[in-house]
Amino acid sequence: MPQAIFECRWASNDAGDQNKQSLPRKNQGDLSRELAAKIRMMGPIPVAEYMKEALTHPTLGYYTTRADVFGKAGDFVTSPEISQMFGEMVGIWCVNEWRKVGSPKPVQIVELGPGTGALAEDLLKVWSLLEKGGDGLTLQLVEISHPLIKKQAQRLCGDIEFGDEIPPKGLKAIHGDVPVHWHSVVEDVPTDAFSIFIAHEFLDALPIHKFQFTEDGWREVLVDVSKESSHQNPKFRYVIARNPTPASKIFLKNGVVGRQPGVIREVSPAALALGFHLAKRIEEDGGFVLIADYGHLGEKGDTLRAFSNHKLHDPLVDPGKADLTADVDFRRLQDEVGEKAISIGPVPQQVFLRNMGIDVRMEVLKKKCSSEKEAKWIEAGYRMLTDPAQMGERFKFFALFPNVLRQFLYKFPVAGFPPPRI
Ligand SMILES: C[S@@+](CC[C@H](N)C(=O)[O-])C[C@H]1O[C@@H](n2cnc3c(N)ncnc32)[C@H](O)[C@@H]1O
Repeated sequence: MPQAIFECRWASNDAGDQNKQSLPRKNQGDLSRELAAKIRMMGPIPVAEYMKEALTHPTLGYYTTRADVFGKAGDFVTSPEISQMFGEMVGIWCVNEWRKVGSPKPVQIVELGPGTGALAEDLLKVWSLLEKGGDGLTLQLVEISHPLIKKQAQRLCGDIEFGDEIPPKGLKAIHGDVPVHWHSVVEDVPTDAFSIFIAHEFLDALPIHKFQFTEDGWREVLVDVSKESSHQNPKFRYVIARNPTPASKIFLKNGVVGRQPGVIREVSPAALALGFHLAKRIEEDGGFVLIADYGHLGEKGDTLRAFSNHKLHDPLVDPGKADLTADVDFRRLQDEVGEKAISIGPVPQQVFLRNMGIDVRMEVLKKKCSSEKEAKWIEAGYRMLTDPAQMGERFKFFALFPNVLRQFLYKFPVAGFPPPRI
């Protein structure tokens, strides 16, 4: 596995303090009133529709209107924001797996939902160091949020002036002089290169349908306007559909565990469709996929939650102003991919990062620190990423590889994951 030595990204305060320079929050307008009007006219809506509007409504959605959601000043912190070591381990993994299959070129790193660009930045740093530049590499970013596209461009490509053109065109990343392109959907990413897809905390932001087992069988949980609501100040509540809905007929047909009254299950058709698409892409055009997210193996049901200002928040209050997220069902994802590609994992984050050498990397970084405070900060980041009580267990890594590599991977197992059982 390649070893890398590079400089440390340092934040002055603590592990989650890297986004102090946030853009101003925009006035959110009123998504509540818009959703309430729709529900009054059309009837209760699926949770998936509510979630999609809350996160990605073009002018009132949570992600589409703001760039200041990450870090201490925002609503939540993610692993790439906590420590550079996270992106470095992912970068080493990418270079290692790509070299194992003969370093095919042209090659593109496709990151889905790149946030502030922290992961892409650390990954490119590693790539350009190990490959002595970024020759033959492009970075393709799939991002729906214009404020975040601006932030990513500034972080990755330097202090650039924006005209009206978003996404910007013709930019190159500082690290490795790598061309950077933006797309609003993964289907628009070019198919003429070997693709390394990375999705960190992306699938959990994709809309879920929610179902509850009742005396009449599975029924979809919908979002309705609550009775105490006024036009000026709408409030929402969950209701259970009286009859089967299209979603309950389509997405529960394969049998779902936990058929006791009151049990709740979630299905994200968007996440499953993405898994299917990525499996097909790597089979047809060459490449592999690394997904990292919090998730489970089908045993959890009611995971939809909201975060605001680092605190749990009622998902039905103030849509568009808080992050909405649901755990990824990796079992269902594996089932969806089926035989179309090789599924590897999921394994807990601490297993992946340790297998990739984060312990050694932490010691190297600590030795380079110029102060005790800096060394403590490196250690705090390491603990947060790997401690089972923090992010070490709940977050999982999952990979997809094309079937053509099946025999090869028995001989040369995928780094970061336990070797396959033969
Ligand atoms: C939870 S954040 C994760 C950011 C980053 N990967 C990280 O871990 O720090 C989700 C990211 O996905 C983007 N996003 C959410 N839904 C999207 C969609 N439907 N299409 C494209 N991007 C989306 C958001 O704007 C944001 O960049």
